[in-house]
Amino acid sequence: MIIGNWKMYKTVGEALRFVQTLAPLVEKSQAQVGLAVPFTVLYPLSHLLREMEVSIKVGAQNMSDNAEGAFTGEISGRMLVDSGAQFVLIGHSERRHIFHESNPFINRKVRLALQEELPVILCIGETLAEREKGAVESVLTKQILESLEGVDNLALITLAYEPVWAIGTGKVAHPDDAQKVHHFCRKTIANKWGDKAANGMVIQYGGSVKPENASKILAEEDVDGLLVGGASLSPDSFSQIINSYKD
Ligand code: PGA
Repeated sequence: MIIGNWKMYKTVGEALRFVQTLAPLVEKSQAQVGLAVPFTVLYPLSHLLREMEVSIKVGAQNMSDNAEGAFTGEISGRMLVDSGAQFVLIGHSERRHIFHESNPFINRKVRLALQEELPVILCIGETLAEREKGAVESVLTKQILESLEGVDNLALITLAYEPVWAIGTGKVAHPDDAQKVHHFCRKTIANKWGDKAANGMVIQYGGSVKPENASKILAEEDVDGLLVGGASLSPDSFSQIINSYKD
């Protein structure tokens, strides 16, 4: 599963032109491809992709922790589904660090998304200071258990391990290190939800994924996909990453 996270980039026109260029470049790929786009792009882009009969999925990058109400400026899970979203990113490190989202707050969003049967990509990851303190496993365990508190069925959950020090910095995790952390996350899932849930869980890596490093990371046993920020903004680099996936 290879997802592009566009963050706060691209107007409607730019987004539509992007997929018209991307689609023919990746039509032979066996990877499941998705784009996490700005709210304003969801409806027109999902409409165009349906018309083009292209299997690229469209998702949102965030949602409200409330179902509806007087929350000026917020967008609910139900609105996302209504606009054509097929998944939502929850707990991205920029949400956690710039907008101070906590695990319990993220948990409320996860539960609301699941109520709408909207698949969730739950982002987790440690900061450099946490890594240097040797706290990677404790931070990730807390993020996984608290963000998924009260969730019994993980069928609609994907995990994205994104070390904060690797996001947008050009410093990609070493493939061995990504593998070690992914394996640890799978073990943590198995301990709480059982082997079946853990083995079926898609765990994506994110953080400075580029065409030059994608295939080495994807080759690791517990890396089931990628979450790509900067390199998903151009059809050229994103298609190279998608085409580096071997079934
Ligand atoms: P990056 O971002 O690929 O630009 O490091 C990844 C992300 O934030 O999801």
